[in-house]
Amino acid sequence: MNSKISKSAVSTSNAYQPAFFYNSAREGMRDLLENVPLSEGGVLLPGFIGWSPREGSGVFDPVREAHIPYGFYSLNGDLSVDIDDLERRLEAGTFNVLVLIHYFGRTDPYLKRVRQLADAHGALLIEDLAHGFFTARGGGEAGRHGDASLFSLHKQFPLTDGGLVSYANPRLVSGQVETRPELASKVLSYDWRGIAKSRRRTFATLTSLLSDLPELDRKFKLLWPALDDHDVPQSLPVYILGENRSQIYDRMNADGYGMVSLYHTLIPQLAGGFPSLVTLSRHILNFPVHQDVDHTLLVAMVESFRSHLGPPDEAAW
Ligand SMILES: Cc1ncc(COP(=O)(O)O)c(C=O)c1O
Repeated sequence: MNSKISKSAVSTSNAYQPAFFYNSAREGMRDLLENVPLSEGGVLLPGFIGWSPREGSGVFDPVREAHIPYGFYSLNGDLSVDIDDLERRLEAGTFNVLVLIHYFGRTDPYLKRVRQLADAHGALLIEDLAHGFFTARGGGEAGRHGDASLFSLHKQFPLTDGGLVSYANPRLVSGQVETRPELASKVLSYDWRGIAKSRRRTFATLTSLLSDLPELDRKFKLLWPALDDHDVPQSLPVYILGENRSQIYDRMNADGYGMVSLYHTLIPQLAGGFPSLVTLSRHILNFPVHQDVDHTLLVAMVESFRSHLGPPDEAAW
């Protein structure tokens, strides 16, 4: 008898998204770039990519090490894609790979348009979700439009290392070799929904506390006053209007609050490229919102922030 509906799923290709675990997201990106067939052409990246003496650049190092030509496109002040600039760059150059970063776990609002542009120019779209594992797993659009998605596991889970590449397009998998398959079990050993809830709650509480400060819009601005339903933040970015971002960072850390400054310095390849993004890198500061943040200390953390804000400098925004 001809089976019309089988008793259980048997198709290994239906909804198949092969996943590869690595020591880091950058190692996974390198494996991708070395194994995905790329004809003549380069990688187009956003113009806000950080570098530090200790870590190098997690985004750019794999491109540089793979000796692939590269270019950059601009972003808006809230770190979303500047679509007009992206379109211009895609038209002006030859790019096989387009990288979209969902900064600090926030889904880029122009993701679908970016996908259309990638298709129109024959480029693969890589969604960099280094900061957005929980965002991608939360039911929203992030991670659903790229040919592949990158995740930095140690930035989201209490792991000392770990990266993941998930291929929505399994045809891109040829010789990739994962180096840390055992990380799958570690990642599955945490309550993702619980972590997402905790991060979102901390973000909301902090946003509300920061919004109540009289210094808002005079000494600092919120990059994202609201969070989309499915977004799970890696941190909460603010823009310091004065020139004292590094001082606030140092002083708050001395007070015991683990502030983050992920993109304090941009890679030298970006020098002079996008002045507004260079300015942003000098003024951005990130509050921690991870799952270990003690809610009872949020008021004190915001008080510490306020005490170190200092005089306003409106000209910077
Ligand atoms: C946006 C972004 N993508 C990728 C990476 C690389 O992550 P990993 O440290 O796991 O290599 C980083 C961090 O450096 C990052 O900030």
